[in-house]
Amino acid sequence: MSAGNSGKRTLEELPAAALEGQRALVRVDFNVPIREGRVADDTRIVASLPTVRWLRDKGCRIVILSHLGRPNGKVVEELSLRPVGKTLERSLGAPITFIDHPASEQAVKTTRRMLRGEVALVENTRFIEGEETNDPAVAEMFAALGDLFVNDAFGTAHRAHASTVGVAQRLAPAVAGFLMAKELKYLGEALTNPERPFVAILGGAKISGKIEVIEALLPRVDTIIIGGAMACTFFLGMGHEVGGSLVEIDKAGLANELLELAGSQLVLPRSATVGQALVAGCETREVPSDHIPAGWAMYDIGRAAAADFSEIISTARTVVWNGPMGVFETPPFDAGTRAVADALVKATARGATTVVGGGDSAAALAGFGLQHAVSHISTGGGASLEFLEGKPLPAVAALNDA
Ligand code: 3PG
Repeated sequence: MSAGNSGKRTLEELPAAALEGQRALVRVDFNVPIREGRVADDTRIVASLPTVRWLRDKGCRIVILSHLGRPNGKVVEELSLRPVGKTLERSLGAPITFIDHPASEQAVKTTRRMLRGEVALVENTRFIEGEETNDPAVAEMFAALGDLFVNDAFGTAHRAHASTVGVAQRLAPAVAGFLMAKELKYLGEALTNPERPFVAILGGAKISGKIEVIEALLPRVDTIIIGGAMACTFFLGMGHEVGGSLVEIDKAGLANELLELAGSQLVLPRSATVGQALVAGCETREVPSDHIPAGWAMYDIGRAAAADFSEIISTARTVVWNGPMGVFETPPFDAGTRAVADALVKATARGATTVVGGGDSAAALAGFGLQHAVSHISTGGGASLEFLEGKPLPAVAALNDA
């Protein structure tokens, strides 16, 4: 793993004098789902509260930056952070100030007039052209809103933007918040110092987004379990009949090369749960995964495969899971994902370290009510994958070294 993702100075290490009365500019990832003008899932907001509360207790004035969605440098009303501000107020139990236009003298004055413990939320950073290209003028503008920088936005750490990298280069100290530090600890320890056996479980629809992570994990793990529709591209590469399953035909050759490289380290599902259409409660069959019949498609791993996977997880000391085993949103195709989630929970209970990354597997776990029964659920999707690929995350690299 690159040194860029570890050994960073943290908020907890700063002396009280560095915080008292200072304006802490805090980058968070409040890129949360908004439905009908309300926050539909506040996980990422709740995850950043320890940092905000700590800063309040230390007498800081807190100015929060976040993006929401991909407005591409334009003001898009539906992507305003105002609903997020409401949720934040409720969670903190305190009113917050909303800064509509960070690019103004008034915005800087507002931050200077704030009282100790007061919190301000700045409107969506991606409404500003130049945020995503890390334009120096935009970075200067954000930096003018704080005296020190705290990055708690692990979910955005793979983006070199003005509000993540640019400000970190302009404010000192620039440190990792509690959430960022926790993410780096769990993912970092799994990669660099795992207790063995170390098992990675990868799922989801496509192999294309996971090739680099498979290549990077192979030398580090004892076993990689593959589930989800991405397994079908491996089956295709092996010359199996895949029926109507989702496959990436152009990746079948590559899947075969990965299989040759990995040998017995890579475990595919030996059975598949198939259906004729992706409809809740539809007729299903469990078939050997090398014989998916024409007119049927694999929408989940089979029961036999789920039992194999659970067996492997049962002896693991470290488990990293990214991507569901099937279309868990459409029962009964949730069974494989549920079985793996249960196996992770049991592994955690007997002392294994279990880390779940990626929006879909985290959502599945929450749907099963098991989100508190694993060691760590990452708030990063793309960021956690890039971390597991061993890539340095630019927003982390830009923080002060410990
Ligand atoms: C995420 O939700 O993965 C992060 O907030 C990053 O969002 P982005 O892919 O739009 O940069």
